Parts: sequence; C-alpha cells; structure tokens
Amino acid sequence: MNKKALLSILLVLLLALNSCGQAKPNTGNKTNEANDITKAPESVTKAPSPIATPGKDNNDSTPNEEDKMESLKEIYKEYGLKAGTCLTTAMISNKDTEELIKSQFNSVTFENDMKPDYILDKQASVDSKELTVKFNSNMLKLLKWAKDNNMAVRGHTIIWHSQTPEWIFHEDFDVNKPFAGRETMLTRMESFIHQIFEKLEEEGYSDIIYAYDIVNEAWMEDGKLRTDKAYWLQTIGEDYLWQAFNFANKYAPESIDLYYNDYNEQYKSDALVKFVNTLVDEDGNYLIDGIGLQAHLYTCDDINTYLKAVDKLAATGLKIQITELDVSLGTWQKELPASEENFKVQGQYYYELISSFLEKVKAGTVSSDALTFWGFNDDMSWRKSASPLLYNKDGSKKPAYYGAALLKEDV
Ligand code: GLA
Repeated sequence: MNKKALLSILLVLLLALNSCGQAKPNTGNKTNEANDITKAPESVTKAPSPIATPGKDNNDSTPNEEDKMESLKEIYKEYGLKAGTCLTTAMISNKDTEELIKSQFNSVTFENDMKPDYILDKQASVDSKELTVKFNSNMLKLLKWAKDNNMAVRGHTIIWHSQTPEWIFHEDFDVNKPFAGRETMLTRMESFIHQIFEKLEEEGYSDIIYAYDIVNEAWMEDGKLRTDKAYWLQTIGEDYLWQAFNFANKYAPESIDLYYNDYNEQYKSDALVKFVNTLVDEDGNYLIDGIGLQAHLYTCDDINTYLKAVDKLAATGLKIQITELDVSLGTWQKELPASEENFKVQGQYYYELISSFLEKVKAGTVSSDALTFWGFNDDMSWRKSASPLLYNKDGSKKPAYYGAALLKEDV
C-alpha cells in the first residue's frame, strides 16, 4: 500500500472516531443496565482517587478564591436554582470528595439508598402481613450528613419498575404465589407511600427534603405506558400513576414538591404533557408539582431538540428540574474516546445546554429550582466508560466543569 492510501485510511478512521456520525435518538430500551441491577453498582462502594487539584492550575488542596467564585451552587443561585449531585456513602467517606461536594453543591439525590430495593423489609412484611418500610443505615447516614451540612435532598424514588423487589407484588409476599389483586396492591401502595413520609417526619428529616420523585420512568418513547416489569401497572391497572400521586398528595408535607421523573424526555414530551394533565383532583388542581428531566445525554444529541422539549413541558406550568444530568461522549450506540478534543466538545455542550436552560429560567418561561448532576467524577459514574461528568479521575476539572460553570472561555 502506498503512503497516500495509508494516510487516507488513517484520516477516515480518525474522522470516524471523532465525529458523531449519524446520531439517532436513543428511542429503544434505555441503555441503562444499572437500572436493572439488584445490587449496588461499583460506584456505590468505591471512592475515586483523591482529589489532586481542586483549583484550576493550582495544586493547593484548599479551595482558593477562584474556586469559590466558580462554585456551581453560587453560580446557579443567581438564577434561583440549587446545584445538585447524586450521593453515596462512599463519596462522604472520602475527605476529598466530601469537601468537593460541600464546596460545589447544595442539593443531593441518593444514588441508590432510598430506592424500593433498599427500603422494603421482606421479613418484617411477611411477619406483620403488611408491606413494611425500614430505612437502612446508609440512608439514615446520608440524611444525617445532608442535614448536618445544610444540603437539601431530592427524594428518589418510590414507584418504579426497576430496583424494586418482586415479592411486594405477590400474595403473602411470596413470589411462588400469584400476583396480589388490585385492592391489595392499592392498599400496599398507599401504605408504602404513607410509611415513607411518616418515617421521614419521625426521623426528623421532612424539612430538608424539597422534592420527591414519586414515579420514575413509566412512559415509553412511543407514547405508551411501559409494560416490561411494570408490576404496579399489571396489578392495579392504568390508573396506578394517578393513584400514586393521589396518595403522595395525601401524605407528603406541603413543603415537598411531587415529581414525575423520566429519561429520553426529549422524545417523550408529547406523551408526558398529556400524562401530567391527567394528574388532577376533582377540582382540576394538579396532584403533581414538577417534571424531572433525567438528562442522561450524549455529546451527539441535538441540543435544540432537547430545549424544545423543555419548552413544551414547561408550558404545563409545572416546575421543571434537570435531575440526573450527565453528557457521555459520542452516541448511545457508539461512545467516543476520552480525548482532549472530545472533552472540549463536551465542555461546549454543557455550556450550551445549561446556559440556555438558565436563560429560560431567567426569562420566566421555565420555572425551576434545581439542576442536579448524576455525580461529578468520571471514575464514579454509572457511565464511566463514556466519561460523562465534570472532573477527571484524579479530581482535576475537565472542560465540562467550566462549561457547567458558564465559563465559556475556559472550556
Ligand atoms: C435512572 C435512575 C437513577 C439511576 C440511573 C442509573 O436514571 O433514575 O436512579 O439508577 O438510572 O444510574
């Protein structure tokens, strides 16, 4: 092969590696294996390497003036928003990540510890013949940490097809018996929701929770209800979502906003608008306060498509929160490698997305009080291989951080 031919092959390969190609919407099943795990993902148990350089071009480990200026919570406060991250016990057992969270964020969502798998007690349910909630020690530890450190908490999540034990849907909590009937499941759903809010009050944490994802991921991109593993739907029927919000309204304190949360939201917005408009009481008042946009995005996803969906959902008058933001490199079919160039594109993406969202909030067309990232360090992310977050493994800031901090020139 001559030199010229070799060069052109190399060039084609390079382009293929660095371009988005034909980025198609992620409209199939969510490539979200972590949703279906029955045990905690690695990120829950493993803290990342220590933070080496908290300040840009600065090896001092105490945050300097520049860092304070750049703190995401200070920047978003200007727009009336909290800056959030997901939280695990591993993150707060490591001094460096704990300090980073305290300096950058003022809102937390527990990555796993409030999910149904983690708060439902099988033995106690069998013994008492009633579905029984028991807060685990990690959840209590994180709540205490949040309270001690003035962090607001997003509750996450109650009614979900994933990370929910199957035994709760069966007669006598026994998976070898048939599914329980509608009335039994309505009673269990009501009790589940009631116990959560009651225990939060008893433990003294109701006041730090400002939003709660009552239902997660119930709709598909084709505008139909999810049926795969949708046992609440199968046992109660199509009104299960209305029932969940009705119970949540009955038992949650006024101070907690009730959310519906979903992914691929940019392809579901019509269905979601239609859906939230059914969540009303007999006087036509909303039983829901907000729509949570997970925003698990890719650098090749079209930002305008996303922002149009935001506008559509915001036009319902409900609050809109970005709840699990991360921007992976590439497309969902084909991740791009972690390179300087791809990190720059990612930084610009974060900048465009967040600045446009905040402008809408400022203009009053979107009502929002928080923007949450699904973590901060690539090494702890559920999408680690696609480097979706703001900090490198060694704790240094990526262009993504500067984009998220609206520092366009530093991206
Ligand atoms: C969904 C859930 C989150 C989390 C992520 C994957 O988006 O809402 O709780 O499980 O998937 O980590």
